[in-house]
Amino acid sequence: MEIENIDLFKGITETLTRLNDPGALLVAGVQRPNVMTIGWATIGIIWGMPICVIYVRPSRFTHSLLEKHAEFTVNIPTVEQAAEVMVCGTKSGREMDKFAECKFTLEPGKKIDVGHIKECPIYYECRTVHKNAVVPDGLPHNVRQTYYASGDYHDIYYGEILGVFRNE
Ligand SMILES: Cc1cc2nc3c(=O)[nH]c(=O)nc-3n(C[C@H](O)[C@H](O)[C@H](O)COP(=O)(O)O)c2cc1C
Repeated sequence: MEIENIDLFKGITETLTRLNDPGALLVAGVQRPNVMTIGWATIGIIWGMPICVIYVRPSRFTHSLLEKHAEFTVNIPTVEQAAEVMVCGTKSGREMDKFAECKFTLEPGKKIDVGHIKECPIYYECRTVHKNAVVPDGLPHNVRQTYYASGDYHDIYYGEILGVFRNE
């Protein structure tokens, strides 16, 4: 079906709602693409650019792919895709092909080399323009205890949004 480039903030409520529940699907990697679930992400204007900010722990297979190739897509599922989101958030691409497992179709990017998931109604194509790490000393004690008991502090990737598309 037709895919159209949509206004940056048109799907924002749906995007932020789905990020919270059940999660969104981050695709990274070109030669060996992978998909993982993310809940921690946001969208806004930074440095005069539309930016999607994602938080990815170094232990994730996806992290190694983001380090190899500075592009990614964020795919917004429907609530009916919660089971697939759970698979992508509990299994690692190191051991399996999650696209095949979830019956997701990886389609080629329009403006970037990383693909997107045909079955998700909205997706964002992003190019990483900056990265930094969560600084342990700057965090409230309870946040460190709750989220970083075993270390593995997130890296934060800032992706310039090159396109927002809707799969009809
Ligand atoms: C609802 C949900 C949200 C998640 N959000 C994040 C996140 O924002 N950042 C992160 O590093 N891991 C997050 N995870 C965990 C990863 O998705 C999970 O570890 C995944 O198996 C990593 O896959 P990979 O090894 O193929 O990259 C989340 C998991 C779930 C179920």
